[in-house]
Amino acid sequence: MKFFIDTASLKDIQEAQDLGVLDGVTTNPSLMAKEGIGGEENVKNHYKAICEIVDGDVSAEVISTDFEGIVREGEELVKLDDQIVVKVPMIKDGIKAIKYFSERGIRTNCTLVFSAGQALLAAKAGATYVSPFIGRLDDISTDGLQLIQDIRDIYDNYGYTTEILAASVRHPMHILECAKIGADVMTGPLSAILALLKHPLTDNGLAQFLADHAKVNG
Ligand code: G3P
Repeated sequence: MKFFIDTASLKDIQEAQDLGVLDGVTTNPSLMAKEGIGGEENVKNHYKAICEIVDGDVSAEVISTDFEGIVREGEELVKLDDQIVVKVPMIKDGIKAIKYFSERGIRTNCTLVFSAGQALLAAKAGATYVSPFIGRLDDISTDGLQLIQDIRDIYDNYGYTTEILAASVRHPMHILECAKIGADVMTGPLSAILALLKHPLTDNGLAQFLADHAKVNG
């Protein structure tokens, strides 16, 4: 399972990279705004800075919602670095743009996916990644993980190569359940990745080992 970090924070990206388990980064306009990154040149420079930290794919989201605008923005974004994947919203013009990009070898991440039908469309259009938002579905009392399972089943039925990128991950159990289902990728905050480390028996066991070692070694 690939681990992406869902942030535009260079500090968090560097920390996850230093841990040695990071496979890529996803961003969105809200995450960029949270870091105070605005203005076309600043945004482009920030994507370049992210690409310098990580080795893997970096999703950069378009702002346009019309076909021509999405294509224009996407073609500009991929010039920044080979690692850039164009993040396109699940709307009619977005699907048309994903098809356009896939025919030209430009990689895409279809975002804001909340149903299996949307994921099927994204795969048919040739999206590289599909991003179902599991946390936001859970927020409205809908089973986000069931959506991951449904998409897995559908893609496996037909051999679609679009990778399932479980997004809007909020906590370590989301990651574990996605791994059990067979999501190809998960993207979440640094806190969810670091939470995988923690177990009280590990902490207690280590404290005991160190205390016992100290008894005979001073
Ligand atoms: O980047 C898309 C998605 O991961 C957003 O997550 O936590 O804002 O629902 P969240």
